[in-house]
Amino acid sequence: MRILLLCHSFNSLSQRLYSELAARGHQLSVEFDIADSVAEEAVALFRPELIVAPYLRRAIPASIWEQHCCLIVHPGIVGDRGPSALDWAIQEGEQAWGVTVLQATGELDGGPIWASENFPMRVARKSSLYRHEVTEAASCAVLRAVERFASGSFVPVPVDAADASARIRGCARPLLRQSDRAIDWQHDDSATILARLNAADGFPGVADRLFGEPCRLFDAWPEDRLRGGAPGEVIAWRETAILRATVDGALWIGHVRREEEANAAARADARSEANVRTFKLPATQVFATQLASIPEAPLAGETRYFAAVGRTWQDIRYEEAGSVGFLHFDFYNGAMSTRQCQRLLAAWQWAQQRPVSIIVLMGGRDFWSNGIHLHSIEAAESPADESWANINAIDDLAEAIIRNETQLTIAALQGNCGAGGCFLARAADLVWARTGVLLNPHYRNMGNLYGSEYWTYLLPARVGVEGAQAMMRNRLPMSPAVGLAAGLVDACLAGDLDAFRVDVARRAAELAAAPDLAARLQEKGAQRHADEALKPLASYRAAELAELQRNFYGFDPSYHVARYHFVHKTPASWTPRHLAIHRDLGWSLPQ
Ligand code: COA
Repeated sequence: MRILLLCHSFNSLSQRLYSELAARGHQLSVEFDIADSVAEEAVALFRPELIVAPYLRRAIPASIWEQHCCLIVHPGIVGDRGPSALDWAIQEGEQAWGVTVLQATGELDGGPIWASENFPMRVARKSSLYRHEVTEAASCAVLRAVERFASGSFVPVPVDAADASARIRGCARPLLRQSDRAIDWQHDDSATILARLNAADGFPGVADRLFGEPCRLFDAWPEDRLRGGAPGEVIAWRETAILRATVDGALWIGHVRREEEANAAARADARSEANVRTFKLPATQVFATQLASIPEAPLAGETRYFAAVGRTWQDIRYEEAGSVGFLHFDFYNGAMSTRQCQRLLAAWQWAQQRPVSIIVLMGGRDFWSNGIHLHSIEAAESPADESWANINAIDDLAEAIIRNETQLTIAALQGNCGAGGCFLARAADLVWARTGVLLNPHYRNMGNLYGSEYWTYLLPARVGVEGAQAMMRNRLPMSPAVGLAAGLVDACLAGDLDAFRVDVARRAAELAAAPDLAARLQEKGAQRHADEALKPLASYRAAELAELQRNFYGFDPSYHVARYHFVHKTPASWTPRHLAIHRDLGWSLPQ
């Protein structure tokens, strides 16, 4: 079928549906929801048989839904309506939630239902639930709805009838306002505050004040042992996070977005981030001056990489099972700043000294890595210098992984991986990906960034020169199955996160116990030496950095402009041509 994806932006759910539908042979094109007239034009050009809207922030115009079947993905259970579906579910502590695929009509979220899927809730951030449970459920429900549409015989169920037979039923709920999200530090306990911060994570955050300044709070971590101070007071800091006292303990806040005082009240209930000049940053970066008088609470000493006793803020964590070491790095949004790369390199070097024959790089639950930290770079005094420092720090890490000769190394992708993060993963000997993660192995969307992380060494060796050029040029998301077929990925494992971890641990243990392990390591060392003799790693790096020097310091500012729009979330004013194939000059409707 010819399917048009109409979406606010090509976010992770839109990307997942794109790759699932493409894998089933559908012809796809994407249009961003910029204005009614632009969407109408896209429909006229592409003449879709079906329109799927994975992520929209406004209603589809009647001129489109009256003529075409439009399937809307609503992140709520049957009967639920409104713009804050998942936010309410988390804040109200729902035990189960779901996704409903309904047809667009004049009534918002009130059209007949084509498919729905439920899931048990877990205590997690909205952005994490969205990237895991919601995305899985949406993918199942949309694929079922598309099959039903294709059959020509399915009659979608009016919402009232579906409501009556649903196991759990929702209702219409308004926008969750900042007044509903507000934290009362004098009375709310840690669990309540955590639920509020989780319900707002990603966007819009919880409006609050820190050191007397208005800001939005994100990225909360529970703390079981440290306490003290008056509720709401900042009592300690560690790396990127600050610790605030609550009435019954304390909570870590990892990220904040400063708000302009004048705009804070006016923006409290806005649904969009348009025209906001500030952006999300590590909390200790924003309040560096104020933290000078607050004690640091480091995880120190030899044991700092092992799981701390009780829950606390710990972004790098190591565990061992027999002769397999697992290095977890749970960096917010998968972004890796200069310091985070340096700290991970130190942890990597420490892990290499452990008595293990396999090291598994686990990344984080939601993201494995998205490469250099574009937000921290944007906030730097010299973004060009910080880009340079960050890329060198991530290159040092990639190099250390490539040069390891004492262990077999595995990148286990539990979460999505983008840009330099994909090539950092490829620096390991093996890349195992969870079914359902998304890979974006390309850089050019960031203002034609050339990229480094030794991709010119790592990628052609796996996918061939032409394959590498195509990946960089096409700039499309890739499922692990496609990555496996292309050679970028070595194994595509279980889709369920817990099952994936078990599978990774079992396979890694088998590799560690295999009689040919020593031979494999020897072979790996020999290959590396042969590669080095042919062309030293240093020349790959020098050539990549020469290109990046032009990106960062040259006369073409595209990278700086693209980064600015990325961190400020500037609404798109056109759909990139590689996604909107109906806007290709050469595109013509199949007869
Ligand atoms: N640095 C800083 N923040 C980053 C980031 C990076 N490299 N990559 C993603 N993020 C942040 C986004 O700003 C967003 O922040 P939010 O919590 O305020 O919404 C969040 O991570 C999720 O990103 P989003 O783009 O919504 O996720 P996605 O799953 O839809 O898309 C990518 C994933 C990888 C395609 C997209 O995030 C991307 O292009 N990232 C930039 C990659 C890059 O160019 N890195 C630099 C070169 S190595």
